[in-house]
Amino acid sequence: MKTYICEICGDAYIGEGKPTNCPFCGARAAFIREGKDAKPVVEVKETLSELTVKNLQETLQLELDANAIYLCMAAKTDSYEIMKMYKRLAKVEMEHAIICTKIMQIPMPEAVTKECSDDDIANFQKTLELEDHAAELYAKFAKEATEKHVKIMFTALNQVEQDHISLIKDYLN
Ligand SMILES: [Fe+2]
Ligand SMILES: [Fe+2]
Repeated sequence: MKTYICEICGDAYIGEGKPTNCPFCGARAAFIREGKDAKPVVEVKETLSELTVKNLQETLQLELDANAIYLCMAAKTDSYEIMKMYKRLAKVEMEHAIICTKIMQIPMPEAVTKECSDDDIANFQKTLELEDHAAELYAKFAKEATEKHVKIMFTALNQVEQDHISLIKDYLN
């Protein structure tokens, strides 16, 4: 058994080998290191550019909104699997919000509540919209970031949201 550490959220995973994705923030295996080699982006204490702070604030709000919407969707579905899937997505998006607060070194804002549909298909469509928007935004934010650790973080988050798109597309097919 070994301890692996996610370069993005900084959480540890204990197992016989690397997971394909971080179980906490969803970062792909390329961002997971053996414990001794890990230097997670959330540990970097650096002064951030004004644009980075603005982009991280927008990300934080987006992730908190997504967390609330996914909790609503989890509560509305009749399927045990979909309920569990949305609860996991909600946790992953909350982890993304936590990453933003750590990089900005600010406290977590108040939780929000959101509305959603009673219909799984409508909720899948809405999820795709949200994830498409997030993925596109994070690709842009990754390009704009002048801080190396912020660039890495947005690159990882862009991939996570793309993976969420594939997940939901499979439910729709
Ligand atoms: Fe992670
Ligand atoms: Fe996210």
